[in-house]
Amino acid sequence: ASRKFFVGGNWKCNGTGEDVKKIVTVLNQAEVPSEDVVAGQGAAAAGLRRRSAELLGAQGRRLHRRDQVPWVILGHSERRALLGESSDFVADKVAYALTQGLKVIACIGETLEQREAGTTMDVVAAQTKAIAEKISDWTNIVLAYEPVWAIGTGKVATPAQAQEVHDGLRKWLHSNVSPAVAELTRIIYGGSVNGANCKELAAQPDVDGFLVGGASLKPEFVDIIKSAT
Ligand code: G3H
Repeated sequence: ASRKFFVGGNWKCNGTGEDVKKIVTVLNQAEVPSEDVVAGQGAAAAGLRRRSAELLGAQGRRLHRRDQVPWVILGHSERRALLGESSDFVADKVAYALTQGLKVIACIGETLEQREAGTTMDVVAAQTKAIAEKISDWTNIVLAYEPVWAIGTGKVATPAQAQEVHDGLRKWLHSNVSPAVAELTRIIYGGSVNGANCKELAAQPDVDGFLVGGASLKPEFVDIIKSAT
């Protein structure tokens, strides 16, 4: 596919200054050619072409030579759940961020209850629709599918489960936005991704990268960055 593999590290408020320093050193020493430095609310993010990478910026840190490319993570399930951010509110933030020249990692995903009720596709389609209604240019958006039950739980979606939802989302974009947006928009997976499970997930045709929490503070983040097939 023509989609450039994308990996984001969402550090949240985890790790001490020392931890962050260590991981930044590891990332800078890793053999992943950097193109851009990107940043976003407590997050480090890397986008990479199959086999060559762009690394990373975090909270104003400068990991590489290039200037920071401002990425923000919006719609994370923790904000939807804990702060009551509705899909409409998230969509407003996405649209506003784009007008300000920011690039957006927009998170969507179902709860365990919704999955068990068989409504996963309806839920993620509705969350995506809210965004689609408020924007027209998808160039600077990466869609992150993060099943709530997989976030920080160690319970990763199976490659088949991830592929099924990513494929469904791409079809939704095809019918409701445009074939070009469906083809070009990166749909990345988040939720208990680690160095051991990333390869098989990355091999799925519609998994275009990852949004990584816990493992993004560990040296194995480099393996995840390199998992593009
Ligand atoms: O945004 C990242 C997600 O919250 C995933 O976190 O990799 O620790 O499950 P996790």
